[in-house]
Amino acid sequence: MPVFVFDAYGTLFDVHAAIARHRDAIGPEADRLSDLWRTKQLEYTWTLSLAGRFVDFWTLTERALDFSLARFPSVDPAMRPRLLDAYRVLDAYPDARETLQALKAAGKRTAILSNGTFRMLASAVEAAGLGPCLDAVLSVESVGVYKPRPEVYRLVIDTFAVAPAEVAFVSSNRWDVMGAAAYGFRTAWINRAGLPEEYHDLAPRCVLTTLAELPGPRIADPA
Ligand code: 2OP
Repeated sequence: MPVFVFDAYGTLFDVHAAIARHRDAIGPEADRLSDLWRTKQLEYTWTLSLAGRFVDFWTLTERALDFSLARFPSVDPAMRPRLLDAYRVLDAYPDARETLQALKAAGKRTAILSNGTFRMLASAVEAAGLGPCLDAVLSVESVGVYKPRPEVYRLVIDTFAVAPAEVAFVSSNRWDVMGAAAYGFRTAWINRAGLPEEYHDLAPRCVLTTLAELPGPRIADPA
């Protein structure tokens, strides 16, 4: 029986919801600030991992926001604490809870596998009411290195005692799908924004536009 494993930030939780909540106070640079905040947050995970260092994801989220606020001086830096508070309780996508509930009702096991700290994930999961539909919340904190290192995806194998081909991995981050496919998971790419395909040699099994389309063509089939 496959285990359905979800990326958190960008997949279940909308990373742009923090800025969206304060859009009027931020002003016209709101979207560019949000994009840069996310881009820098991820860049730091990759560069530090390549350098053999680990700094937790909350600290990187703070550092990325600091860089982004400095980059857009028209945004009041006093927004910092409000934006970070909003990031702790990001909105889940509207179909996240019902999709997880439907998978649980169908007898599937479900989990989050995320770069986020356990504390960040606990707060976001609780705020969105996702706890009862999840069998496990797994964090890179357990291995001290970020996605897409294979050690991270191996956490699923160690937790559920399944083979990689029994894992259906769902992410809206194409680079995360690449890492999961390289590890041997069945993958679904949630391509909400209609982005072009990349990482062609490590393609997803299926491309969906919403979580509600899960289990989705091919993802739940035997390998
Ligand atoms: C996550 O691991 C990649 O930010 C994304 O939740």
